[in-house]
Amino acid sequence: MEAHTPVIRTRNLTKRYGRKIAVDHINLLVKRGQVYAFLGENGAGKTTTIRLLLGLQHPNEGDVELFGLNLHKYRLEILRRVGSLIEFPSFYGHLTGRENLEVIRRLRNLSSNEIDRVLEIVRLQDAANFRVAHYSQGMKQRLAIAIALMGNPDLVILDEPTNGLDPSGIREMRELIRSLPRDLGITVLVSSHLLAEVEQIATHVGILHRGRLLFQGSLEELKQLAQPQIIISTNNLHTAKKLLSAHHFPVTTKDDEKLIVHATTSQISEIQQLLINNGLQVYQLTPQEVSLEELYFALVHHQEPST
Ligand SMILES: Nc1ncnc2c1ncn2[C@@H]1O[C@H](COP(=O)(O)OP(=O)(O)O)[C@@H](O)[C@H]1O
Ligand SMILES: [Mg+2]
Repeated sequence: MEAHTPVIRTRNLTKRYGRKIAVDHINLLVKRGQVYAFLGENGAGKTTTIRLLLGLQHPNEGDVELFGLNLHKYRLEILRRVGSLIEFPSFYGHLTGRENLEVIRRLRNLSSNEIDRVLEIVRLQDAANFRVAHYSQGMKQRLAIAIALMGNPDLVILDEPTNGLDPSGIREMRELIRSLPRDLGITVLVSSHLLAEVEQIATHVGILHRGRLLFQGSLEELKQLAQPQIIISTNNLHTAKKLLSAHHFPVTTKDDEKLIVHATTSQISEIQQLLINNGLQVYQLTPQEVSLEELYFALVHHQEPST
């Protein structure tokens, strides 16, 4: 694979269930070294897309390329380089963590070093000889990641890996995910319905809504799309508001005592000059960064202007 060949590329990938369209002509692009967060609420089509990426389901239209190879043509060759965790992983509860890994190792004919290697990455060495039935949810999830990492894949696909975890389990999972590109050179696609989580782990984001990809780009690009809000308080709100509107700044009043202006940070001094030059006293002029959550709802709303 060339350095610039995308790790994942889909073209018009589409999946229908009867008349319902679960995945609607999506063009995913994931490059090497990214932690690509696939963000969308429940029912958006994340799991279906992931199943299509792994060849577990067949698209009605479009195709999947992994490492520059067509999935349909080179399925086995490709999937040898991919580790995955989808929905609820199942284990042999009466076996230990190590024994569960051993089952997989033999099936896939991997070297015996592989078990200790993956146990160390997910930090389950100390619990390796306990039965999985006694594992916490977080430990089970880490064991599932250990299985995904067996065979040293180039790409790991994780479907909502923090579901059902307690806060400390979630924190550990985030750190583990972030370490994969950094320490092992693995590209990660991870799905989530939690915006706050995505902000903390992703380098790139794809936002899926009702089967359609509303946005795809870097986390920074996503944040730049949002106009920051600037909070202003002055000695005369009414005059300030008229003035700003006359200069084409979108402005609203907040709690009858402040103005909110949508403008870029670089326009702040322009706004300040405008107010001062017109004899107003400016008490406060503060830019506020838009959260990913506000942005997400703006994108979704943009898609459905009538509702
Ligand atoms: N096997 C199936 N048969 C019929 N409809 C399905 C099936 N699997 C998923 N769906 C529907 O497809 C849509 C997307 O589901 P899914 O991919 O599971 O979303 P997500 O993982 O984002 O929650 C949902 O409306 C869901 O009800
Ligand atoms: Mg799902």
